[in-house]
Amino acid sequence: MRLTVIGTGYLGAVHAACMAEIGHEVLGVDVDAEKIAALGEGRVPIYEPGLQEIVGRTVTSGRLRFTTSLSEAAEFGDVHFVCVNTPQRPDAPACDLRAVDAVVDGLAPRLRRRCLIVGKSTVPAGTTARLAARVQELAPAGADVEVAWNPEFLREGYAVRDTLRPERLVVGVMSQRADQILREVYAPMLSDGVPYISTDPATAELVKGAANSFLATKISFINAMAEVCDAAGADVTTLADALGYDSRIGRRFLSAGLGFGGGCLPKDIRAFAARAGELGVGCAVSFLDEIDEINSRQRRRTVDIARDMLGGGFAGHRVAVLGATFKPDSDDVRDSPALAVAGAIHREGADVRLHDPEGIDNARAVLPQLEYVHDVEKACAGAGLVLHLTDWAEYRRIDPAALAVVTPARKILDARNALDASLWRSAGWTLRALGRPTPPAVPGQQATVGQRASAGRGCAPGQRHLPADRTA
Ligand code: UDX
Repeated sequence: MRLTVIGTGYLGAVHAACMAEIGHEVLGVDVDAEKIAALGEGRVPIYEPGLQEIVGRTVTSGRLRFTTSLSEAAEFGDVHFVCVNTPQRPDAPACDLRAVDAVVDGLAPRLRRRCLIVGKSTVPAGTTARLAARVQELAPAGADVEVAWNPEFLREGYAVRDTLRPERLVVGVMSQRADQILREVYAPMLSDGVPYISTDPATAELVKGAANSFLATKISFINAMAEVCDAAGADVTTLADALGYDSRIGRRFLSAGLGFGGGCLPKDIRAFAARAGELGVGCAVSFLDEIDEINSRQRRRTVDIARDMLGGGFAGHRVAVLGATFKPDSDDVRDSPALAVAGAIHREGADVRLHDPEGIDNARAVLPQLEYVHDVEKACAGAGLVLHLTDWAEYRRIDPAALAVVTPARKILDARNALDASLWRSAGWTLRALGRPTPPAVPGQQATVGQRASAGRGCAPGQRHLPADRTA
């Protein structure tokens, strides 16, 4: 089939490449001429494992091409996938649909042939119906142009795998014809047995928001338990393992730590709650405000514990920060908890040296005032404290004995509960974590309890929704 993919960011670039990989003729479209030029030469401007290979292969074969022209796209496509971003509005915790609306307003007047517009971006319930009416007003082909929604669930870092072998496909359609077209698009996945849920557009739109709300709830639940563990002297990692063996609960998304960030979960749960409010059922999802607040609190808790480890203040201390991206295997620093913490301690006077395997360029664009270092040892040299803030595999492999040579203070806060605590401690490090007891300095004494209290802050409400780019 001839597909266009409009918007070639994390979602669109991966979708375009994977659709070409399964045999379709694909035209990627973007307003960013520089990005289109790079992609057209087979160069991928983002870090996403496996993507470069597929783009290289499909561009060389001619099945994947790129353009900035919506007119060319309108002439070319049987199906137009809309993959532009739907960020949080600058003035409210709701979804900014301007990019989606601009695509429809630009594309529809050029549509003179039978085709299907399929939205993949995350949008509030009711968007497909609104856009379908708009398309009918604008498209010369009239009723021959339909609109459907097909939410995307891919995770950054696993985007190629999640697109080629999704756990499910969800389509919200208004006709059998639209359903049939989408079955053809995804035929290789369907023949592999991927579950295919065909429903109305409102349900499809809600599935995405509900899924992200559930995942965020799971993470904030375990982070709330980590706070209770700190107060009780218990271990949240063992607690999560024990909970996870219950097949009704499951262990995934129960890793306590600095909390969730990125371009999706935080803004999606806010947009979901905002839309529920508009629909008159805000109270049904008011718990999402608490989920968001628990998440923001982990950033403040991390800063508080770090300050405590430095004896009460950051001024005059060198702090090594390991990790800038919102999660490993990504170069994405949007609403990154790690970068928010780095920015906050820098504002409190810390001399921050930040390392990240892939995210330094993006981090520097948000927080140019920090010092960026491409080598872990150099980042940690002479640091009074090391903060482990993003769970890159590279950091798990650090030899604590070797690092201690350049970091005589030997203090580390593992805000991702990912390091081997006993290994670090046996190399002489003072290691603290979120929701895990700190063993006594003198054997035989009681383990440290009440990290929150010892850090001097209780449950007082703090600043909510503090993304990294607002901490500068
Ligand atoms: C997420 C959803 O998983 C995906 O389905 C949706 O389409 C887009 O949003 P992504 O943003 O790539 O994908 O990140 P994800 O892997 O879900 O992680 C989100 C955040 O939660 C990260 O900051 C991660 O570090 C954090 N996290 C995840 C935890 O803190 N604990 C966990 O147990 C799991």
